[in-house]
Amino acid sequence: MCGIVGYIGQQEAYPILIKGLHRLEYRGYDSAGVAIINPDDRLNIYKHTGKVAELETFCEAKDIAGTVGIAHTRWATHGEPSDINAHPHYSTNGKIAIVHNGTIENYNVLKQALIQHGCEFVSQTDTEVVVKLIEYIQTSNNCTLLDAVREALSQVVGAYAIAVIDSDHPDTVIAARKSSPLVIGIGDGETFIASDASPIIDYTNRVVYLRDNEIAIISRNEPLKVITTDNKESKIDIQTLRMSVSQLEKGGYPHFMLKEIFEQTETIFDCVRGRVVNDTIKLSGVSDHPDRFINAGRIIIVACGTSWHAGLIGARLIENFARIPTRVEYASEFRYANPVINSDDVVIAISQSGETADTLAAIKLAKERGAFVYGVCNVVGSSIARETDTGTYIHVGPEIGVASTKAFTGQVTVLAMLALAIAQLKGTASRSQVAEVARSIQKLPELIKETLLLNPQIEKLSSTYTYVHNFLYLGRGYNYPNALEGALKLKEISYIHAEGYPAAEMKHGPIALIDKEMPTVVIAPDDDLHEKVISNIQQVKARGGSVIAIVTRGDTTIPKIADHVLEIPPVPEALSPIIAAIPLQLLAYHIAIMKGCNVDMPRNLAKSVTVE
Ligand code: F6R
Repeated sequence: MCGIVGYIGQQEAYPILIKGLHRLEYRGYDSAGVAIINPDDRLNIYKHTGKVAELETFCEAKDIAGTVGIAHTRWATHGEPSDINAHPHYSTNGKIAIVHNGTIENYNVLKQALIQHGCEFVSQTDTEVVVKLIEYIQTSNNCTLLDAVREALSQVVGAYAIAVIDSDHPDTVIAARKSSPLVIGIGDGETFIASDASPIIDYTNRVVYLRDNEIAIISRNEPLKVITTDNKESKIDIQTLRMSVSQLEKGGYPHFMLKEIFEQTETIFDCVRGRVVNDTIKLSGVSDHPDRFINAGRIIIVACGTSWHAGLIGARLIENFARIPTRVEYASEFRYANPVINSDDVVIAISQSGETADTLAAIKLAKERGAFVYGVCNVVGSSIARETDTGTYIHVGPEIGVASTKAFTGQVTVLAMLALAIAQLKGTASRSQVAEVARSIQKLPELIKETLLLNPQIEKLSSTYTYVHNFLYLGRGYNYPNALEGALKLKEISYIHAEGYPAAEMKHGPIALIDKEMPTVVIAPDDDLHEKVISNIQQVKARGGSVIAIVTRGDTTIPKIADHVLEIPPVPEALSPIIAAIPLQLLAYHIAIMKGCNVDMPRNLAKSVTVE
């Protein structure tokens, strides 16, 4: 949700900033801007509505010289997407510029106070309030930029990652964070700032993850200094990035989404690596805290969106194998529900980005109330990874397509391993039961590879459904959450309305919608509920609806009644959602492409939802 980049060093800042913005565009893409201090110490600011490419065109023939600058790609919160509301925002004297990711909750109170002092505003954003406040403090207190930033942040309520430059101090960038991510890359005589490491990795693998309430003072030719907002010096912890540039590129695929769907053979391999050993599961997050799991009265899973769908599957896995009562909550509801949380509860927070504001707030609440919090994250070093007591990374590599694909299968795979690890500990599943599923987990990459062979068939059948307006997705048991996920994938990238339902619920209402205009995707692998799902398909067919069925290879019944059949390889029931997710992802992708939609950057969406 908004991406920030900053640079100070010996190189020209503009190309580095623009390249960084392209890398961060998944975080927001309604407008973009850059601020650069030129060699004459003049602050030049260029902003434009639309994607980063439009900013680049706008900057052609402009003065973009300078070795210090900040840049931003926006996902609007306060004020519509427009040139004026785009970042960077600047002080009245045109010397200070700021980029901001987050939301300032008390911006209106601060704005009214500044207006009383004669300050004028040009945009509708909360961010402009911060830069005008910095300027006001600097002028009234006659203090340094750093002191003004520190004082301003003490008055601000909300979430922020900011970077500030001042043409009166062209050798310094000030950056700060609270509840929004910020990474600083330490190069050789140059320093980079970014919302995540992707704009930095081309130049250095040495990074510092700024912590909440920290301010970084980044000065040309001087070592990085970090202080807290209450002016105490912070210890700098330089970490080495384990990311490669190739992970951030499309690698010959037309879209990141397709690349990420096809990558799942390798990502699930990486996710499982070292965690299935001699037919048992090794998760240090569990084995390091045995008492927490043995004595857990309850497990509460908190997450949003696709991660919440993974959580629904996880709950079923945990209850089935580990026999611990488990419920799943939307993090956004949980945080405001005054939930009953006991000290023997284990809260599992699932998040690809590790930065989702609602999930982070749910974790903080759970911790305050004494629960033990376990994270299932993708982004190493992310806020959620750091805020949780322990956890398991899914290790699927950077996910850039806005629609989550490989993270979902990684999350479900980790949750399956987690359920088995707890079951081993508690003795709720026999050795042979664990061994059987563990062996199948190791086979997942091979099964995914086979499933991906469905791609041409799915591409072909997608053309039949490009212009429908509604879709129904049905599944049962482990695959009911997959029906929700399939529907979400389709609607978010193709803008076709889609709903997911437990198949047996159809007769309690949604069946009224079925006619020949409304196709139904039925996830019907060979499991305990197979016969019942066949009846559901019959009910759809009896009402003239067309059916796309995902079945286990060798199914002899469904191919006789469904309009299209997508065969997946046999897989144990508990792991079937991982395999069945692949045709659902491909179906959404191809329909969206045939409709001419931008699948990597769907309208109104952004990856990493760092605002409420
Ligand atoms: C959908 C999607 C979103 C995210 C949700 C949570 O394709 O990507 O629904 O799953 O915003 O994000 P994370 O997992 O980063 O907390």
